[in-house]
Amino acid sequence: MKILLLYYTGTFNTRFLSNKLKERFESMGDIVTLHEIDPSKTYRLDYSEYDMVGIGYPIYGFAAPWPFLKFIRHQHFPKHLKMFIYKNSGETYHDNDASSMFVLRDLRLKRVDVQNEYHFGMPYNIHFKYEDNFVREQLYMNEKLMDILVYEVKNGIRNLLPYKLKTRLVTGSVARLQYIGGDVNSFFYKVDKDKCIGCDLCIKQCPMHNIYRNEQGEIRFHHHCLMCMRCSMRCPKDAIWIGFLDSWGWRVNGAYNLKKIEQQEYKPVISEKTEGFYECYYESFTRINLRHAELFGGDTETPKAILESIKQKEKQKHGMVYKLLRLMFKKIDMTAD
Ligand SMILES: Cc1cc2nc3c(=O)[nH]c(=O)nc-3n(C[C@H](O)[C@H](O)[C@H](O)COP(=O)(O)O)c2cc1C
Ligand code: SF4
Ligand code: SF4
Repeated sequence: MKILLLYYTGTFNTRFLSNKLKERFESMGDIVTLHEIDPSKTYRLDYSEYDMVGIGYPIYGFAAPWPFLKFIRHQHFPKHLKMFIYKNSGETYHDNDASSMFVLRDLRLKRVDVQNEYHFGMPYNIHFKYEDNFVREQLYMNEKLMDILVYEVKNGIRNLLPYKLKTRLVTGSVARLQYIGGDVNSFFYKVDKDKCIGCDLCIKQCPMHNIYRNEQGEIRFHHHCLMCMRCSMRCPKDAIWIGFLDSWGWRVNGAYNLKKIEQQEYKPVISEKTEGFYECYYESFTRINLRHAELFGGDTETPKAILESIKQKEKQKHGMVYKLLRLMFKKIDMTAD
C-alpha cells in the first residue's frame, strides 16, 4: 500500500507517533510518506497516488486543533479515499472521544471514507508535567495500540470510536473557544527579562512566526498564536509567561525525551488502585489489552471483567461537571498507590 501520514504537531508528540507509525507500516512492506502540516501557509497536497491516508493531531480542548481543521477543509480529496485518524492527548477520558467531530463532518461531505480512529495517550504539554515512568507506560501501551491500528487498517477492519451525545456536546461547546483562544491569550504573553538568555529559540521555533523582537530588542508576540505551547515548553530558561493559562499554573516547561524514555525499563504504574486524574488510563489500557488479545491471542476474560467493574463503578459515580472541575484543579500523586 502507498500511505500518506498527514499530521499537525505543536510540541512534537504527534511527530513522534507519526514516525513510529511510518516505521510500523514500512516493516510490513508499505511505502509511507510523512507530511507535517505547516500552519503558517495555505496550500493543497495531491492525494491521487495514495491508497490510504492517516491523519494525526493532538487534541486541543476536546477537539481537533483549529489549524488542522482549517487545513483539512482546504483540501481536495479524491472521492472515496480511504482514511484513518490517529489522535493523541494527555488524558484518555471519554470526554475526548468526539474530538474529530468537525473533521469527520467535513471529510464525509468531501466523500472521504474514514474507516478507523485511534486515540493514543501522550504526555501533557500543558497543565502539568508527567513523570517519566508513566510516560514509559504510555509509550508501551501505544506500541500495542499500533499493533491493532496496523492490523485493522491493513485488513480493512473498520473501527470508529463511539460518538455519544454527551461527548459531542463537550466538543461542540469547547471547540469554538479554542479557535480564538490563542489570539486572545497572546495579548497577555510576556517574557521574564531576568530569566531570558536571548537565545531566540522561541522566535525560531514558533510555527506561526508569531514571536519577534521590537526595535528595542525586546521579545514581543503578534496575535496569530495557535496555543501550541512550543515556545513555553522549549524555552531553556522557562522565561515565557503564557497568559491566562499561566495564571492557572497550566504550563509545562522542558521537553520530554521520548527516545530516551522508551529505552527505560518498563514497570506498570497504572493498576486497579489508581485513582483520580490517571484513572482513565486504567480503562483505556484495559481496552487496548482486550482488543490486542482478541486479534493476536491472549487472555480476554480478565480485561472484560475489569471493564464491566469499571462500568458499574462509573454508574455510581459523579456527574460530568464534577469530573471537569477535577480535571482542572486536581493533580493526584500517582506514586501514592
Ligand atoms: C491548547 C491545548 C489544549 C489541550 N487540550 C487537551 C484536551 O482537551 N484533552 C487532552 O487530553 N489533552 C489536551 N492537551 C494536551 C495535548 O493534546 C497533548 O499533550 C499532545 O500530546 C500534544 O501533542 P503535540 O506535541 O503533537 O502538539 C492540550 C494541549 C494544548 C496545547
Ligand atoms: S527561548 Fe526563552 S531564553 Fe530563549 S529567547 Fe526565547 S524567552 Fe529568551
Ligand atoms: S507563540 Fe508560542 S504558543 Fe503561540 S504559536 Fe508560537 S510557539 Fe505556539
